[in-house]
Amino acid sequence: MTGQPQTPRPPLGLETAWAALLAAAGRDVSAPAEAARWLSRGIDGAQHAQANAPAQVQDLLSLYGPLCADGGWVVGHLGQSLDGCIATHLGESCFVTGPDNILHLHRMRALCDAVVVGAGTVASDDPQLTTRLVSGPSPVRVVLDPRGRLGADHRLFQDGAAPTLLCSTNAVGKTRAPGQAGLLVLPHNKDGLRLDALVTALAERGLKRLFVEGGGVTVSRFLAAGLLSRLQIAVAPLIIGQGRPGLSLPRTERLADALRLSPRIFRMGADILYDLDLAAPEAATDAGQGGGAPAADEGVLRQVR
Ligand SMILES: NC(=O)c1ccc[n+]([C@@H]2O[C@H](COP(=O)([O-])OP(=O)(O)OC[C@H]3O[C@@H](n4cnc5c(N)ncnc54)[C@H](OP(=O)(O)O)[C@@H]3O)[C@@H](O)[C@H]2O)c1
Repeated sequence: MTGQPQTPRPPLGLETAWAALLAAAGRDVSAPAEAARWLSRGIDGAQHAQANAPAQVQDLLSLYGPLCADGGWVVGHLGQSLDGCIATHLGESCFVTGPDNILHLHRMRALCDAVVVGAGTVASDDPQLTTRLVSGPSPVRVVLDPRGRLGADHRLFQDGAAPTLLCSTNAVGKTRAPGQAGLLVLPHNKDGLRLDALVTALAERGLKRLFVEGGGVTVSRFLAAGLLSRLQIAVAPLIIGQGRPGLSLPRTERLADALRLSPRIFRMGADILYDLDLAAPEAATDAGQGGGAPAADEGVLRQVR
């Protein structure tokens, strides 16, 4: 109807915005009515309409909105020190990044269908991989353990907090996974388990939004296989020295051949999150200056507060 005065919508609060994001991702069907109203305009619409909303609401929608709008993705995340380590050489990683980045991990778990980790992470951290810090369901937990080296006593095999899948090869001769986990047998090649086969097998189970939470070896293999749609690197103001590496990839001979990415940058407490869209890597470079040349920003200096 035309001429009808529009009732101004109340500003979208942080809790409501998060509920709307969860509902948009299909992760929570019991979103409160206010969140549902925002959702009816789509997350993009909510974002647009929230130009005057508190900055933290805008940033929440900006970081997570695109992931909710997209039904399938593989996002890798690492929290690393300034010198590129994700843990000490003994494997201690609690905590490299601060509580705001840990909260982000829980939000990502709530928005994904499955969280994927390597055997090294389970062996070192005995993680639960649940959404204890946020509302929203815990994802299916997927562990890459090709040699069947993990014992049944790890928490995610025992706690029943969410379904758990152990990925292995036929070669280890396992007929069942440890504890309450299910077994997913995958083909392998010289690089280990075929991660493309993993992504396909999970999609067949309806698990299409995948969060690869670590560690360095696992995220690197997903990246090298060209399977990541986004890479998130949180850098903490910490210098570890000779620790466990974050990304570890084959050499690049020429800087021009290196992968320079166009980041979105979010501050998380004292940490800086680089949110990198791997579908558009060329956007970060100046045309005509070679792949290694950073794009110009008109000499602008901006302090991140
Ligand atoms: N700061 C962070 O963001 C963060 C996050 C997670 C973990 N961590 C820390 O990082 C350390 C663990 O990381 P990590 O890099 O050493 O190990 P990881 O990535 O957790 O696990 C690596 C292992 O997983 C298996 N794996 C992974 N991808 C595979 C594939 N495609 N095919 C076959 N096997 C595959 C292999 O097991 P096999 O060796 O049995 O073949 C591989 O050695 C721990 O100290 C943990 O505390 C830090």
